[in-house]
Amino acid sequence: MARGKQPGKTQRAPKVHRAVVTHTVDEFESAFWPDEQPVDNAVVMTMGALHEGHAALIRAARKQVGRDGRVAVTVFVNPLQFGAGEDLERYPRTLDEDVRIAEANGADVVFAPSVDEVYPNGEPQVRLAAGPMGERYEGATRPGHFDGVLTVVAKLLHITDPDFALFGEKDAQQLAVVRRMVADLDFDVEVVGVPTVREEDGLALSSRNRYLSAEERGHALALSGALFAGRDVAAQGPKAVREAAAAVLDTAEGVELDYLALIDPHDFTEAPDDFQGEAVLAVAARVGATRLIDNVRIIVR
Ligand code: PAF
Repeated sequence: MARGKQPGKTQRAPKVHRAVVTHTVDEFESAFWPDEQPVDNAVVMTMGALHEGHAALIRAARKQVGRDGRVAVTVFVNPLQFGAGEDLERYPRTLDEDVRIAEANGADVVFAPSVDEVYPNGEPQVRLAAGPMGERYEGATRPGHFDGVLTVVAKLLHITDPDFALFGEKDAQQLAVVRRMVADLDFDVEVVGVPTVREEDGLALSSRNRYLSAEERGHALALSGALFAGRDVAAQGPKAVREAAAAVLDTAEGVELDYLALIDPHDFTEAPDDFQGEAVLAVAARVGATRLIDNVRIIVR
């Protein structure tokens, strides 16, 4: 007899967590607030193509609100944050698999609206502006990107009205500008950052990794390799960190560097040479046709 089985007793099937899939704001509202019960709730915003990094965000959201709280996952490829010539059209759209991952990790409701549902009046004439914080680093290469991100994040916060919104630290600048928007514009939500998930060899998980060939994937390891090299000498100060990371990228094959920067996470400006404390060491580069970003949080002395 198998362990745990008792003769004459029927085995209860394990509880399967099901997520309700919604496509309109009305559907979402009735699924996310089925009654007047005041429970904690959290949102994880995504553009779909979910991977283990998103799964970790969803699990963190579940932990944040507890078993009786509610977790929403939004899946929306936001055209406003893509520039001309970027991968809006070819961005992977995998809703069935996204729903499977969302529910397996504790989501109650998936909100996967159309572009018309999110922008019913067409392209918005009024948008949020990320300001100077959104013009550096990612913003310098992708002008208007963070305005598009903040505009949709603000809309999704209004629609989902969460107590907690969880964002990955992998998109460090996005997390910083979202935090700043919430603080500057008095959004009533707590923003929670969740650490980056990596493959065993160090590659940060990203929906865009699926664009990489096997050879390019090997080249892409130079990004995390550079960050780890910088992190290893954090105790020697900003100059040593920059030099150690740059040395890895200087000899890397197949990597076209966009920026390598040691950043003060509070205002997302370059950390001066006498900087001490928590900093973000960030890199962005093109590997083949794919643009990748990565960062580590380090304590610089
Ligand atoms: O990080 C992302 O996937 C997107 O920028 C977000 C926050 C879902 C807004 O479209």
